[in-house]
Amino acid sequence: MGIEVTDISSVIKLENISYSYPGSDIKVLDHLDLEIKNSDRIGMMAPNGSGKTTLLHTIMGLCKPESGIVKVFGKVLKHEKDFIPVRSKIGLLFQDSDDQLFCPTVLEDVAFGPLNLGFSRQDAIDAARKTLKRLGIHVFEQSVTHRLSGGQKRLVALAAVLAMEPEVLLLDEPTAGLDNKVKEKLIYILNSLDISYFVISHEYDFVKAVTDKIFSMEKGRILTDDDMQIHRHEHVHKHGGHPHSHK
Ligand SMILES: Nc1ncnc2c1ncn2[C@@H]1O[C@H](COP(=O)(O)OP(=O)(O)OP(=O)(O)O)[C@@H](O)[C@H]1O
Ligand SMILES: [Mg+2]
Repeated sequence: MGIEVTDISSVIKLENISYSYPGSDIKVLDHLDLEIKNSDRIGMMAPNGSGKTTLLHTIMGLCKPESGIVKVFGKVLKHEKDFIPVRSKIGLLFQDSDDQLFCPTVLEDVAFGPLNLGFSRQDAIDAARKTLKRLGIHVFEQSVTHRLSGGQKRLVALAAVLAMEPEVLLLDEPTAGLDNKVKEKLIYILNSLDISYFVISHEYDFVKAVTDKIFSMEKGRILTDDDMQIHRHEHVHKHGGHPHSHK
């Protein structure tokens, strides 16, 4: 009889995951494997539509795979009831902040997670205020969330995630819409965390500053840094001052 040994360094493990959206036969995830271990700081850079957001939603149980195994903290998660207790330990920053924020005011939005975790009202508010201050947005605490700018909402959504003190962070394009000063602050905050995180971004400089390895996705699978080399190239030509790409 075999004894299964749980690898305590494994935080998230996806094995042979395949997923198609309902009504489609395109495999967005196709026999995909991924492991996030303790202290891993992984960046993910891949083209639009390659399945990055779907991948994060699969880890959270928001997309249920047709086949394969999702393991979080060593436990196999299959049904909705398996995912519920785990979701509060994983901080997912949604790609669209409007999917994350639904309370009337900023303070309520950020206190919502800690309240849900069982904090008293006062402790939840204290945790929310502390996180808002850390991100430098405490002046907005009484603002109406849906009236904030896109970048401000992004920061509030990030505060909502961090206030829960998650054991692992999954960030879906955290810098989208942020100015350089705020981006620098985010780099500082991520580098001061001692939890593992997985960050999707299209910004190489940001990914490079906050992660130790960069993965990509192609044809529904992960390419690890052994499979490819994302690199920055410098060159000179007539229109080089404008954003462009090379085939
Ligand atoms: N709710 C949905 N229903 C049907 N198809 C979807 C849905 N969401 C995403 N898709 C499809 O799944 C594929 C992967 O989408 P996904 O959002 O995971 O990509 P992504 O890598 O996050 O892209 P981006 O960089 O633009 O955010 C795309 O082809 C998309 O059209
Ligand atoms: Mg996406």
